[in-house]
Amino acid sequence: AKFTKVNKDECIACGACGAVAPDVFGYDDEGYAENILEGDNNQGVVEITDLESDVIDAAEGCPTEAIEVQDTPFN
Ligand code: F3S
Repeated sequence: AKFTKVNKDECIACGACGAVAPDVFGYDDEGYAENILEGDNNQGVVEITDLESDVIDAAEGCPTEAIEVQDTPFN
């Protein structure tokens, strides 16, 4: 299983992640990315299912390594 959240302190609102994984990453009013999976609220608690490879690609492509991915829920 994989879980993800965006560390907004590191995000520079470059917009790459939402292009790579638009069903997982959206943006807040200031353009900073966040996990938009239903019920997640960027907490990294909703399991990513069929979108895992897209999320890993997005994390690897983020210029500031702001996207955190791990095998267990955050918090
Ligand atoms: Fe921010 Fe990285 Fe996405 S800088 S907009 S989290 S690709």
